[in-house]
Amino acid sequence: MTRRLNLPEAPGSGGDRRMFAPSARRNMAPILEVLRAHAPTKGRALEIAAGTGEHAVAFSRAFPGLDWQPTDVDPDRLASIEAWRRAEGPDNMRAPIELNAVTPNWHETHGPADMILLVNLLHLISEAEARAVLAGITQALAPGGKAFLYGPFLRNGEATSEGDAAFHASLQAQDSAIGYKDIAWVSDRLAPMQTETTPMPSNNLMVIVNAN
Ligand SMILES: C[S@@+](CC[C@H](N)C(=O)[O-])C[C@H]1O[C@@H](n2cnc3c(N)ncnc32)[C@H](O)[C@@H]1O
Repeated sequence: MTRRLNLPEAPGSGGDRRMFAPSARRNMAPILEVLRAHAPTKGRALEIAAGTGEHAVAFSRAFPGLDWQPTDVDPDRLASIEAWRRAEGPDNMRAPIELNAVTPNWHETHGPADMILLVNLLHLISEAEARAVLAGITQALAPGGKAFLYGPFLRNGEATSEGDAAFHASLQAQDSAIGYKDIAWVSDRLAPMQTETTPMPSNNLMVIVNAN
């Protein structure tokens, strides 16, 4: 990770390099439901900030026609993803590769992708870094591809619950540049690509980006 943040749920770890994130377990089924309804069923899937690798195993298994490429920036997360892949990963799950999604022009080496998944990163980085992530996503998407951006967002500049306001404030107390992004700001960064926003459990949102 580029920043060492104190988050409410740091991933735990088992006997090997596999890490376990309770949040990834909790949001897996709702995310999968959206993917099943909207994601392409074949082609190349690029997962950014894949974390422990638990999502990569579950989602690559659910979409055997997708060539699933998990990525992350953190060496421990990359090792965890690989440990999960070796333990339980299906044939269509690739070995993880390093991708720092806040670097300019990352799409040149990591695109094109028919599907891109990004779960719970945008609130942990600055606005300038989020711009680079979102620009990279729009440039990495293949024609007709779809991106899925999941996480907590502000609506009209406001957090939607006391818990979200407290988490946003705790992030900003650690680094004033980071914190929740406004959903309208995110959609503007993705224009002219069309986006639709789906409500998710715990006040989260899924932004679906359509590359036409
Ligand atoms: C809160 S975790 C989410 C992990 C996973 N997507 C999930 O939902 O369980 C944030 C992840 O973002 C990764 N990350 C942080 N900065 C990044 C960057 N600049 N580029 C790519 N990944 C990054 C971290 O290493 C970590 O795995």
